[in-house]
Amino acid sequence: MTANTAGTELLVELTTTVNGEEVTATVPPRLHAADFLRSRLGLTGTHIGCEQGSCGMCTVVVDGEAVKSCLMLACQLDGRTVQTVESLATDDRLDPLQQAFKDAHALQCGFCTPGFLMTATALGYQGSCPSRAEIREEIAGVLCRCTGYENIVSAIENWFAGVPQPGSGDETGSGGRAGGPR
Ligand code: FES
Ligand code: FES
Repeated sequence: MTANTAGTELLVELTTTVNGEEVTATVPPRLHAADFLRSRLGLTGTHIGCEQGSCGMCTVVVDGEAVKSCLMLACQLDGRTVQTVESLATDDRLDPLQQAFKDAHALQCGFCTPGFLMTATALGYQGSCPSRAEIREEIAGVLCRCTGYENIVSAIENWFAGVPQPGSGDETGSGGRAGGPR
């Protein structure tokens, strides 16, 4: 990371990898990571709610860990790897985790969904299969006003169990964890 001035404004240069692509940008040091992802990179799937670390709407994965991007400065992304919800689906196919949410009716308005998806993605990177109680604890940092959480926990539980999802191409039940965390 390097610093320079444009007029009287101090700017810092950062290089980060976002959804597999290296990005270099010059930003004000006080720009927070959520705004950087949304306004500079156009990754508006990262939602903003409270901007004070309470709601979890802005959760992304940084170096494999779930992070509330409203509590992080853009310049702190320098040299790190970021994953946002845009990394999940391909053009015509939902990611198995997204499909699990759809099949378990784990969303209504959907505003909280990116936060839950990225929290679950980070949980998947831990390499163990959490219990329902552990899933509840892990997602406690993300709030949902619509669903009552039960179906969200079920969706994540099903994803970990690798329950074949309709449209996954493996409805036979023989796929084990094929539909689960990578
Ligand atoms: S917007 Fe980041 S926790 Fe609410
Ligand atoms: S689905 Fe509406 S806030 Fe969670």
